[in-house]
Amino acid sequence: VRVAVLISGTGSNMVSLVAAGQAADAPYEVVAVVSNIAGAAGLAKAQAAGVEALTVEHRPFGKDREAHERAIDALLAERGVQVVALAGYMRLLTPWLVGRWAGRMVNIHPSLLPLYPGLNTHARALEAGDAEAGCTVHLVTEGVDEGPVLGQARVPVQAGDTPEILAERVKAAEHRLYPQALADFVRRLKP
Ligand code: GRF
Repeated sequence: VRVAVLISGTGSNMVSLVAAGQAADAPYEVVAVVSNIAGAAGLAKAQAAGVEALTVEHRPFGKDREAHERAIDALLAERGVQVVALAGYMRLLTPWLVGRWAGRMVNIHPSLLPLYPGLNTHARALEAGDAEAGCTVHLVTEGVDEGPVLGQARVPVQAGDTPEILAERVKAAEHRLYPQALADFVRRLKP
């Protein structure tokens, strides 16, 4: 299954998806990485891993979110992409793109959804005094961070945790969970 990963920044989850997809028995392969931010650190990492790295900046499209998405979507279509994985892609999606990829677009979110959709998840988990934090891979639907859950991983919250320290612990869990959840997901896809 041909997968594209959409990023806006560091791309550490993207790197773990690419690496797992390069295993001989992997059910998917990352064929393209697309960033809406020129020079995002993840782009060089994708290239270093031998994956085509593309930039489609949103700025030139102004307020027309859908036009920006159509430009990305055209690149995906040209490359025969079948599944899209969001990995730190920091743009809200329009109903058009979500509808176009319904059932074929996944996201990773750094909380145990339905807890803490949106931003600042780790600070919110600490504020609430949660004993556990974690991450969720889910199908993308119109509501932000709302789609059906495909997999979750949990980590303990430890005494003295700051949002940064907790984020690092959750990130390590993300890097294990995402490739596994994506592999399970694509194996169940109908051809
Ligand atoms: C991750 O924490 C992910 O869960 C969230 O954005 C972050 C992206 O990090 N959606 P990276 O770019 O994969 O390192």
